[in-house]
Amino acid sequence: MCGIVGYIGPEGAAPILMDELSRLEYRGYDSAGISTIEKNKISIMKDVGRVKNLYNLDGIDDLTGTIGIAHTRWATHGKPSKENSHPHQDNSKTFSVVHNGIIENFHELRNMLEENGYNFLSQTDTEVIPNLIHYHYSKLQDNSVHGFLQAVRNCCLDLKGSFAIEVISSLFPENMIVVRKDSPLVIGTCEDEKYISSDIPAILSYTRDFYFLNDLEFALLQNNKATFFDTNLHEINKQTNNIEWTATASEKNGYEDFMLKEIYEQPTAIRETIGSKISIDSKCNFEELNFTKEYLSTIDKIYIIACGTAMHAGLAGKNVIEKLCRIPVEVDIASEFRYRSPIVNEKTLSIFISQSGETADTIAALKLAKHCGSKTIAISNVIGSSITREANYSIYTHAGPEIAVASTKAYTSQVILLNMLAVYFSEILETSDKDTIISIKKEMLDLPKKIEETFSCKDSIKEFAKKIYQEKDVFFLGRGIDETIAKEASLKLKEISYIHSESYAAGELKHGSIALIENGVTVVTVLMDKSLMEKTISNVQEVISRGAKTLVITCHPCDSNMFDEIITVPYTIQYLSPILAIIPLQLLAYYISKEKGLDVDKPRNLAKSVTVE
Ligand code: M6R
Repeated sequence: MCGIVGYIGPEGAAPILMDELSRLEYRGYDSAGISTIEKNKISIMKDVGRVKNLYNLDGIDDLTGTIGIAHTRWATHGKPSKENSHPHQDNSKTFSVVHNGIIENFHELRNMLEENGYNFLSQTDTEVIPNLIHYHYSKLQDNSVHGFLQAVRNCCLDLKGSFAIEVISSLFPENMIVVRKDSPLVIGTCEDEKYISSDIPAILSYTRDFYFLNDLEFALLQNNKATFFDTNLHEINKQTNNIEWTATASEKNGYEDFMLKEIYEQPTAIRETIGSKISIDSKCNFEELNFTKEYLSTIDKIYIIACGTAMHAGLAGKNVIEKLCRIPVEVDIASEFRYRSPIVNEKTLSIFISQSGETADTIAALKLAKHCGSKTIAISNVIGSSITREANYSIYTHAGPEIAVASTKAYTSQVILLNMLAVYFSEILETSDKDTIISIKKEMLDLPKKIEETFSCKDSIKEFAKKIYQEKDVFFLGRGIDETIAKEASLKLKEISYIHSESYAAGELKHGSIALIENGVTVVTVLMDKSLMEKTISNVQEVISRGAKTLVITCHPCDSNMFDEIITVPYTIQYLSPILAIIPLQLLAYYISKEKGLDVDKPRNLAKSVTVE
C-alpha cells in the first residue's frame, strides 16, 4: 500500500532513491515520484506507471541534490494520475511530502485549509499534509529548524488515520523530518548517511543498522545525525537494531522471479524457523514466551487472527493445537474480528500472524484483544515490525525477506511455527503422549529434505499448467486439513493468474456448488489425510462423472488411472501436510501465470503489505 523512501547524505540522492524505490515497488506500482532539493529549491518529478518510467523523465538527470524523498503509489484517494502521484507540496512550494497510509479526516482539513486560502491540485488525502504544515509553520514565530519540527508535529496531531510521512523543506535544505503512526517506516543509518524506507529489504544493500519509530515519535535527520522526539517534542534516546538479513536475500539471484526463488527457499526457511527450538531429546524451547503450566491451564480459548495467506496458516495451526493441546481454537479474519465484538478476556490467548507485521487490520485486532485483557502473541517475519511492538510476546518465522506479492515461504514457515507452538504448549500442559510428540518432532526435522524431494514435481506441474492456463474457473477440494490447503491454493491461483477459483469442503459440494461443474472444468483435490481419503475420492468421482478434469495432490498410494494427473509428494503426518502439499500448488499458480505472460511478482491491484483498512 504505497512505499516511501528517503535519503540524506553526501551522495546525489536521486539514483539512490530510484534504486530504493525499485526494490520497494511490490508495495504499490501505479505511479511513482521523487523530490530533491537543489540550491534551496524543491524539485519534484513524477509520472503514472512503474518506477522505471521515472528514468525517462526530462530533467531527471539534473537532480543533483543530496537530500530527497520518493514514493511508489497504490491508489486509494484519486485515480492513478500525475496530479495524484506523490510527492505533494504546499501552495508556496516550501514543503514537500510523501505519505503512506490514509488521512481519514482529510475532507474536514481540506475545507478548513480552503477557507484559509489554500488551493488543491489533486484528489488525494495526502495533499492536505504539506499545506497543513505550511499553515502551522506560518502561525509560529520560530524560523529555526525547531519551528519546522513543531509545524510537522502540530500537523500530525490534527491528522486522523494512519500515516508514515517524510517531509523536506526548501527553508531547511539539510534536514528531513519523518514520523509514523500505524504505518510502517524504518530509518537505516551508517556514518554520514540516513536511508528511510517503508520496509527493511529496500535499503539492505546500504545498511543493516536500523532505528524503529513508535507511533507519533519524530525523527529529525541530518546526514551525520538522527535526533528523536516524543509527541511533546521532548528529545528521546534510541538505539540502533542490527538486522541479520543479507542484501542478497532481497535479490533475485538468478531466478526469473522472486516468487520462484521464494518457493525454492522453503527448505531453508523451514530449517531456520525451527532453529534450535526443536530437538528429540529435550522439550520445545520458546524462551520468548516462557509460559507456565499454571498460566496455560487458565486458557479456555485460543484465537488466531490474521488476513489472507497468514489466516490460512492459522487454520493449519488450529488443527494441530486443538488435537495436541485440547484447547478450542477459533480462527478469524482480522477485518471481521475487529468489528464483531468478539468474546475475548483474560482467559483467552490471542495469536496474530502477519508476515510483514504491518497489516492494518491485524494490528487493530491485536490492540482490541489486548484491550479486552487477552495475552497477545505476534508471529511475524519482520523484526521490529509494528505488530511485534504492540504484542505482549513476539515469535518469528525466519523465512528471510519475502518480496513477491504472493506469499509462499512465509506461509510454510508460519505453519511450522504454529506446529512448534502446539508442541510447546502440549509439553507444558502434558496433553499428548511422549511418542506422539517425538514422532511430530522427527517429522518436523525431516521436512526440509522432503520439500527438496517435492520439487521434482516441477515438470509435471508445468505441463499441467500448459493444459489449463486458458480456463476461466478452477475448483479446489479437500476435507479437514486438506480443505485449508485447498483454500490457500485457490488464493494463490486467483491472485497471480486472474483465473476465477474457489475452494470447497469436498463434502459440501453437492449442497449447491456442484451445479458449477461441467465438461472440461478443472478440479484440483488435496488428499493428504488418509483417514478422509476414501470419502473425498467419492466426491471426486462425482465431479468426474460430470466431465471435470482432475488433478490430485497426495502423499498416499492412489489409483493413477482414476485422475487426469496425480502428483505424489513425500509422506508426512497430517499436521505438517500443508507444508508439502502446497508446494506443487504454488508451482501450479506460478506456471499458469507465466504461461499467461503476467507479472508474477506484482499482480494487478495488489500490494505486498496492506497497511490500510
Ligand atoms: O503481511 P501479512 O502476512 O499480514 O499479509 C496478509 C495478507 O495480505 C497476505 O498473506 C496476502 O493474502 C498474500 N498476498 C497472499 O499471497
